[in-house]
Amino acid sequence: MANNAHIKWQDYQVDATTRAELNGHQSAVVWFTGLSGSGKSTVANALEQVLLARGTHTYLLDGDNVRHGLCADLGFSAADRTENLRRVGAVAGLMVDAGLLVLSAFISPYRSQRELVKSLVPAGKFIEVHIATPLAVCEQRDVKGLYKKARAGEISHFTGISDPYEPPIAADLVLNTADLTIEQSVEQLLALLQRRHIII
Ligand code: PPS
Repeated sequence: MANNAHIKWQDYQVDATTRAELNGHQSAVVWFTGLSGSGKSTVANALEQVLLARGTHTYLLDGDNVRHGLCADLGFSAADRTENLRRVGAVAGLMVDAGLLVLSAFISPYRSQRELVKSLVPAGKFIEVHIATPLAVCEQRDVKGLYKKARAGEISHFTGISDPYEPPIAADLVLNTADLTIEQSVEQLLALLQRRHIII
């Protein structure tokens, strides 16, 4: 553990509220959680396109991409997933301070990990969206062929097959992409963001 005893917090003269006034919308983190292949990235990408067209300043953090850089040293043990999400939570917190509407697509399988991320984001700015597409549907889609490999024992710790997924108990929104079109999911997300006064 690093010795941070002599490091003091430096206050800034420009804060998130000022940036929000300039942007014309609030900053927040929309946290998509769900199984591999559930549709997290697809829905988050579609939402970002619509938000961008409305003039919202966004950024999309996606598990597969973050694991190519910031978290390239991490695997899929519970401890590595926690560290993955701690780093992402810290980055998302900075982006919220920068005034962005952050969309994050991570399996984030444990409730404790999602609570950790929530604690790294300013109060009231963490919106949990459960992409609750059933395992059977995700496995049937098998877009990346990972379920097949996991069933064959070629990938260990695979969420839903050989590793746990703890569904949220009180998500802000639950979307099952087996029953909804992408457009319907985006509509529900936009309505939620408007109800929360994050966008107009
Ligand atoms: S986590 O649990 O939040 O840290 O995972 P995340 O960073 O979102 O990474 C999930 C993507 O990694 C690929 N992959 C695996 N997923 C689950 N379990 C195992 N063992 C695994 N190995 C590789 C997979 O492509 C996940 O992407 P999505 O988009 O969820 O399908």
